[in-house]
This record gives sequence, C-alpha cells and structure tokens, in this order.
Amino acid sequence: MSDFRDDGAAALEWAASYLERVRDLPVLSQVEPGTIRAALPDRAPAEPEPFAAVLRDLDEVLMPGLTHWQSPRYFAYFATTASEPGILAELLVAALNQVGILWRASPALQELEEVTLAWLADLLGLPEGLHGHIEDTASTGLITALAAARAASPGKRVVVCSEHTHSSTAKAARLLELELRPIPGDENHAMRADQADLSDACALVATIGTTSSAAVDPVPALADLCADAGVWLHVDAAYAGSAAVCPELRPHFAGWERADSVGVNPHKWLLTPMDCSAFWSRRPDDLRNAFSLVPEYLRVSEDVVSLSEYGMPLGRRFRALKLWAVLRCHGREGLQAVIREHVRLAALFEGWVRDEPGWEICAPRHFSLVCFRLEGSDEENEALLERVNATGLMFLSHTRLGGRFVLRLAIGNARTTEDDVRLAWDVLRREAR
Ligand SMILES: Cc1ncc(COP(=O)(O)O)c(C=O)c1O
Repeated sequence: MSDFRDDGAAALEWAASYLERVRDLPVLSQVEPGTIRAALPDRAPAEPEPFAAVLRDLDEVLMPGLTHWQSPRYFAYFATTASEPGILAELLVAALNQVGILWRASPALQELEEVTLAWLADLLGLPEGLHGHIEDTASTGLITALAAARAASPGKRVVVCSEHTHSSTAKAARLLELELRPIPGDENHAMRADQADLSDACALVATIGTTSSAAVDPVPALADLCADAGVWLHVDAAYAGSAAVCPELRPHFAGWERADSVGVNPHKWLLTPMDCSAFWSRRPDDLRNAFSLVPEYLRVSEDVVSLSEYGMPLGRRFRALKLWAVLRCHGREGLQAVIREHVRLAALFEGWVRDEPGWEICAPRHFSLVCFRLEGSDEENEALLERVNATGLMFLSHTRLGGRFVLRLAIGNARTTEDDVRLAWDVLRREAR
C-alpha cells in the first residue's frame, strides 16, 4: 500500500497542478489524426511498469492530444466543469468499486442514488415523489424514455420532436425501430406546437435548451397535447436543466413538471465530472414494464426493486457519490452563483456582439449560450472559426440556423472570468480583420 499512497499523492499533485495550469494550455488539441496512436507502443508491456511511467507518458505523449474541457476558455458545444469535490469523489468511487447490479449488492449505492436525485429534483423545482436514477448520458436516457413509451402504447410507433431536437432522439428511435417525425421550429427555433400531429405517436420529445441555440420548446402547450392524446412526454433538458436551480430562470422550465420523464446532465452544467445524467419519471411502472427482467441468479428475498429494473444496464457505477459530493460541497447557493455568473457573462458577450457593427446575434439567448456570426458569407465565418481555434487561446464550435453557418460561444466552466470572455471577443475581432 505504500506504493499506492505515494503514487496516489503524485497523481493528486498532478491533478492539482493540471487545474492550476490548464488556463495556459492550448484549448483545442492541435495534433493531426493518428499522431497519438503513432507515439504509443504497439503492444502492452510484458513486465510491470511503475505508475510514474503512466504519469510521465500522460505528460509527454498524451497531453498534446488532449482538448482541455477544463480550460476557462473552452466555449465549444456545451462547456463543462469537473469540480474538485466531484474529482475526489471519482477517486473514492474507483476505490470502492461498487457494482450496483441489485440493491443487496450495494444498498448505499442504490439508496444514495435515490436520495441524491430527490435532492436534485427539489433543487430544480421538479415535483416530489418522482422515480429518479442516474444514467451515463442523456442519450441513454432517451432510449430509456422511448422504450417505456413504446411499451406503454402498443401499436403506436411514431416519435414527434422538433427539427432542432438533439440527434440522440433520432438514434434512440432508430434503435427501437420507431419512426421519427421532426416538426419545424418557429423563428426562435422552438418547436411549433400547432404542427404536432400525435394521432399515431407513442412519444413526444420536447427540449428546454436545444443543442444548436438553447431554444425552449413550448412545453406547457405540448404537455396539453400529450395529455389529450395519451402520449409520453419526455423533456430533454440535458444542458439547460441545471439552470433551474436559479428561481429567476425557472420560467423557462414551465410545464416540465408535467412530463412523463425528464433528463438533465449534471455533467454538463452542474460541476459534476463526466459522466452523470439524471433521469426522472412519474411513470416508474412503465419503466419496469419495459426493462424489468430478473434472472434466477439475481432473485432475492427482500422486498426492494433494484434500479437495474428501470433501465438497460445491469451493473451501475456509484455515480451518486460524486453528485452527492458536488451538491454538498457547493450547496444550492454555490451552484446558483456559478450559473448566474455564466448567464451574466453570456449576456455581456451578447451585448458586445450586438453593439459591434458587422456582427449579428442569430438567436434569442436564454441561458449561457450565444449564437452569433460575422455579417458575411458562411465561408468567411467558417474560416474565422478555424483561425480562432488554431490560436489555441480558445475553442468555439458552430451550428447551422436557418441554413446559415453560426458561431456558438457557450459558457459553462467555473473558472471562466470576464477577462476570458473579453479575450475571446478580442481574438474574434482581431481574426475577423
Ligand atoms: C439537448 C441535448 N440532449 C442530449 C444531448 C446528448 O447528451 P449526452 O452526451 O449526455 O448523451 C445533448 C448533448 O449536448 C444535448 O445538448
């Protein structure tokens, strides 16, 4: 164990110093495809190597091939933060190596997961008494929701969503042999409820905070339609859901309390290391109908339903420990402070773009994502994005809205300061010239 203590101290020192210097590293990895593979041996070593060799190669071989999601100037896709309590909890999760195949295999894993998701539901203003469990990703949550919806409405095989719904819905539908029916978005990129035909649908997926532009679908109207038609309503709030911790942002979440299932990714905007996707449902019996299959070797005498009966995986990681650590060590007020600061910084950036001749804002901003572009051709904007990312000073991504190439700046890292956002804007304007 002395090696473990010494190596552990070295790994923790590595992690702490990484977090201190990450702001100075090139945000987007600049390596060519295949570079890292070529730098690695073809075979695993025959003789044991010291852990120090792993740390050395992390620095010398792998580091150039890392895009730094922990960088304060990571603004691409949806920016994230693995906060310190979550990182430390991951270490403990690995040390404990709980495998939650059923309740008795780890009562604390299951019960902490249930309690932590009830805490999180409460923090986000979701109703009491929902079934809650943790999935690896929102994509898996989509499969869970659509499989339950399909089983609950035999003979109905259509999934209604918007043209802006995340591709994980299409993937889940394809896997479950359901037909996807995307309907157009309005001028703000929100789903047009008046276009939703639910007559042969088993599910409707509404999004609060779409991936392209963080648009908010009209969930109250869609919930009415779903209730009338007996259709399962899944609300995908993978990115934006964490913002409901702030009461002033709750109006965007109107109606989500009526959903049959809801997904929120704490690994996106709630300071939790990848992976941790919260899934709630008010129809746990329908989840069990779709997923419960208990073989003889897992039969037990105690009267407890294991979490493996509500979704696809049998074994589950002790993810609740890191979410619990994050909720406890930041507290409601700490989480609110981070989200509020990100929304403030996004609003500031939006204002700078709006006030600058030659630039335009391309979508209403609800949360911490700004969609904008240089007034000019798609090619100019695409080239600008490439130049900006090649500086290594920041990383932005793009989308297409109304057929046009649009730049996205998403704020979600707890270390991002006003100076970082200012620098991003300066680099954008400089490279545009
Ligand atoms: C709205 C939305 N839903 C689902 C997903 C998929 O998330 P995951 O990577 O957890 O599957 C994303 C990813 O960005 C998203 O933005």
